Amino acid sequence: MKNGNGTRLHINEVATRDGFQMESRFIPTDDKVALIDRLGGLGYAKIEVTSFTSAKAIPALRDGEEVMHRIARRPGVVYTALVPNVRGAERALESRIDEFNIVMSVSETHNLSNLRMTREQSFAQLADVVALAKQAGVPVNVSLSCVFGCPMEGEVPVPSVLGWIERFAALGVQGVTLCDTTGMAYPIQVQALCERVIAAWPALDWTAHFHNTRGMGLANTVAAVEAGIRRLDMSLGGIGGCPYAPGATGNVATEDVVHMLQCMGYETAMDLDGLIAAAAELALLVAHELPSQVSRSGHRLTRHAPPAHRRN
Ligand code: COA
Ligand code: ZN
Repeated sequence: MKNGNGTRLHINEVATRDGFQMESRFIPTDDKVALIDRLGGLGYAKIEVTSFTSAKAIPALRDGEEVMHRIARRPGVVYTALVPNVRGAERALESRIDEFNIVMSVSETHNLSNLRMTREQSFAQLADVVALAKQAGVPVNVSLSCVFGCPMEGEVPVPSVLGWIERFAALGVQGVTLCDTTGMAYPIQVQALCERVIAAWPALDWTAHFHNTRGMGLANTVAAVEAGIRRLDMSLGGIGGCPYAPGATGNVATEDVVHMLQCMGYETAMDLDGLIAAAAELALLVAHELPSQVSRSGHRLTRHAPPAHRRN
């Protein structure tokens, strides 16, 4: 394991998209806007504000337009949203989005469950979305679900993953996110795939997206960064998950990942105390305990008073 030596990492927040889509309680629009505005000042490279999906599929994010229109756009922060089809891209454009985060799964079964399309149908839609984005001058990132395994199909063959990346690269997308949708990735698998794709497509902006379903999220993050990944998705408080992926649980928690990376000498540009305070606010919004740990325990150098029997 290496010292980060000041290597700059770009942190993307997904709590208001990946997180809120999984909450049973509808988070009021005012609260979404206030949280995003608060997060905007904490050092993120990118915030995934919402998704432009069908309100039947993802009722929690049915207020995407209003949220986009009401947030304060902080210079330097990219405000992105998840887009599954042309209708979603049109809505995102009307909302003056900074980037389209288009989505499909490399697993046929997961794509059918989540997007109600075959992978080929999704790709055809997304090719139209990329064409629309080019006309409008909006950059495109593609998030590929289940690249480290599918909860219904099991292992996803690496050549199949590489084949989909090749097709999106040929369309001219700027970036690709490798999503571990249900926490099936393990560190040496992450290292191998990340090294391989970065070597094959060095001009693409690569992002890793881990869920902590099996407790491997932090180890996978280190593996990805040591393989050369410089952009990471994570979710405040560790909330999140795909409602159409059986067994899905939350993303790696922003405060846990940032704390670890800062200890290791990476430059994240993030305000950790600000994150911990924002996580306390988030816990009130979602009205349940958060899966993250640093929001409860604090920084590793948090000093505690000795137990009472040692004080007198
Ligand atoms: N935004 C808003 N509404 C949309 C939409 C979009 N991007 N795409 C389709 N719709 C509407 C249609 O207008 C139609 O509305 P109607 O019933 O009032 O006529 C309805 O949704 C169904 O349209 P259809 O094209 O048949 O879509 P579908 O039911 O096959 O669903 C998706 C396809 C992609 C829209 C839907 O599965 C979806 O939004 N999935 C997102 C899942 C997700 O975000 N998962 C978590 C993140 S990985
Ligand atoms: Zn996710």
